[in-house]
Formats: sequence, C-alpha cells, structure tokens
Amino acid sequence: MHLGPQSLTLFALLHWSMGDNGNGYLVNVIPVTESALQLLTSIRWDYDFLELDEDLQKPAVVHLTEADKDEFLSKISDESQFKFEFLDLQGMIEEERRQNNGTLSRQGSFDLNIYHPLNEIEDFLQSKQRDHPAMVNVTTIGRTHNGQYIQMITIKLTREDIKMKPAIWIDCGIHAREHISPATCLGLIDRLINQGEKGPLEHFDFFILPVFNPDGYAYTWSNDRMWRKNRRPITRSCTGVDLNRNFVPTDFGGPSTSSNPCSNIYKGTKAFSEPETRAVAVANLQIMKKYGRDMFPLHMSFHSYGQMILRPYSHGVMPPPNLRELDAIGNVMLKSVARSRYTYRYGTSAAILYAVGGASADWAYHQGVPYPFTIELPPQTSGGFIYPASNIKRTYNHIWKMVNAMTRHLRRNG
Ligand code: ARG
Ligand code: ZN
Repeated sequence: MHLGPQSLTLFALLHWSMGDNGNGYLVNVIPVTESALQLLTSIRWDYDFLELDEDLQKPAVVHLTEADKDEFLSKISDESQFKFEFLDLQGMIEEERRQNNGTLSRQGSFDLNIYHPLNEIEDFLQSKQRDHPAMVNVTTIGRTHNGQYIQMITIKLTREDIKMKPAIWIDCGIHAREHISPATCLGLIDRLINQGEKGPLEHFDFFILPVFNPDGYAYTWSNDRMWRKNRRPITRSCTGVDLNRNFVPTDFGGPSTSSNPCSNIYKGTKAFSEPETRAVAVANLQIMKKYGRDMFPLHMSFHSYGQMILRPYSHGVMPPPNLRELDAIGNVMLKSVARSRYTYRYGTSAAILYAVGGASADWAYHQGVPYPFTIELPPQTSGGFIYPASNIKRTYNHIWKMVNAMTRHLRRNG
C-alpha cells in the first residue's frame, strides 16, 4: 500500500533523493496567503503542475523531476507562505504495477482489463486483423523518431445496401503517461468488432489510433511513468515535443504552450514538426478527402484525467459557430454516462481546465470536422495518471455507452 500525504518541512524536501527510480516526486503545495497563490500561478507553466486552483488553502499538486526539483523549491522557500505534503508517487506506481502483474491473463487470449506494453498492443491489433479480415484493417500511418510504427486500425462493416457511411475518428495516448486512454481504445475496438454490428458499426466507419505517441508510451514503461511528450531529442539535455501543442498553424503558440524544449508543454519549432502529428494530420486529411466534408462528423481524442468533455475552442472563450449542435451532443454525452459512477463536466478546456494552443481537436475543427471532442477520462482525484488496472473495464464500458449514444444522436439528427 502506498502512504497517504505526508507533511514535510522544506528542509526534508530539499534533501530528498530520487534513488534510482526515474519517476520523480509528487508534492502538494498549499499556498497560505494570496501572494503565495499568485506566485504559484505565475510559475505554473514552468513546472509540471497537475492541479492548481484559484482557491486558497487548496493544495496545488506539482510533479517534480530530479532536474527541476531544487530550482522549484528555491522559488517557494518562504515557509510562512506555503505548506508541503509529500505524496508517495513511487508507491502509487508500484501498486499499479503490482495489480497489473497480479492479473495473469488466460493463455492465448489478450486481457483487455490490464495495461499492456507497446509490443502487446501491436500484437493485439494484428490478431484482430487476422481474425476479422473483412472488417478490420491495420495500417501504418507513420514512423516515430525511434522507429516505432504508428498504427491505425480501421473497422468497417461492408454492407451491400449502403454505399458509403460517415467516418468517425478516435485517438488515444497522445500524452504518454495517460495509460487509461490506450486501454480505453482497445476496449472500444474489441466492443466494436464483437458487438458493433447491431450498433454504431452498422452506420459508421471507424478509424482508431490506439497509441498516438508510441515512443513516449514505451518510455513510460521502461524509464519514467510520468513522461508526457514524444521522445525526439531537441537539445543535448532536453527531449520531446508536446504533441497536443504541435497542431494548428493559425494559433501555434498561444496559451499553455512553451518554446523551451525542456518544458512539458514544448510546442516544437513549428506546427507539424513531429512525425506523429504529421502522420495524424495526413491520415485525417485522407479521410476528409475520401469521405467528403459532410461525411466526417465526429473526432474524439481521449486523455486523462479529470472526467471532462471538452468542446472547441480549446484556446479561448470565442464561441464556435455550431455551438448549439455541439452542446446538444455534449448533453447526449453527459446523459449517456449519468447512470455510471462517473460524473463528467462539459465545456471548453479554456473554461474548465486551461486554455490550450495548438491542440489536435481545434485543428480537426478548423479542417471542417464539425464535432471534435477531447475527453478527459477518469479518475478525478489528483495524481490520476496512475490508475490501477481494476478501473479499466468500467472505463471503457461507460465510454462504449457514450459512443453508442453519440452515434444514435448523429443518425437521428443527420
Ligand atoms: N490530459 C490533460 C492534458 O492534456 C491533463 C489533464 C489533467 N489535469 C487535471 N488536473 N485533471 O494536459
Ligand atoms: Zn493529455
């Protein structure tokens, strides 16, 4: 069992050492005064803050690496302004790992209810293609810096009586550490193949990218469970671009992006500087071209965590032209999960999370996909990138309901 939050003095914090795990530290920082809160707010994009509310007395949660820990602590060194609690990140990670390993999958069958490393996910996709050649097609849409394949799975039901069905795009795992996201995509793929015929598959073609960021995902298994970006080396000491800041030339840069290659929200040197974002853009444009503007209604990107349904625009408060239709679908999404154990909030990232420039959903919207949604999966609790495998099934189950409800709505409303 990992420990609950432990109060700590600044002195003790400064003398932590990471040992040989590369996952870093998780710290609750509780601002005591208004100026303490202001200070945290002013440095929020310089560090990996997982939570930061405009609420005094509420802990901000920051993830620190060995590289930025001392610098961060020197900035908040006035002990009358802050209180600290240490969260046992390493313990949480070990618990997640133990649970994942404890569930031995039955020989020869892929266990959807545990987390899988990249090579097992690739085998899963291949096996789906092998077992359902008429329905499933796995294609490589690009190669990463480290030479991994970026693989998309297409699931279509061929029907004599319907010439062309609209396309739906789903991507998972753009941020490496959000493990529940690829696991949810795999659950959806399995459901679509086994049960989709009488549901969404009858009327839509699905294009699903289960691991948007294969290099980053592999790195979270091998080195650092809290890694977010891709793994392309940028400078001698800094690696990786935040792929969800690397889209949209029109507002490349913008809120919550950074031009510092060491930053977790580094946007890259220019839009589409990364092999992953280029591959996804090309794949999306090909779908648009083949299906036509009106036949590519829905684009979903799964992230974690926070239980949020985010509609355009991510970058600001300007209302999108088709707000009414977006809100109608948003309502359908909220309703579809109202009876599950998960409560979602609905709105723009700018309003309920933080404003984002260069996000993939906004790019899809600019390209003409009318309903792009970013979904922050469970949990809601702080530090929720670590999420034990016992939660996977419940997660893809309620998202399966959500996707079904959305496709029903799209059918009814043309
Ligand atoms: N997936 C989000 C991102 O792209 C992280 C959201 C998590 N934050 C939170 N406090 N719930 O940045
Ligand atoms: Zn994310």
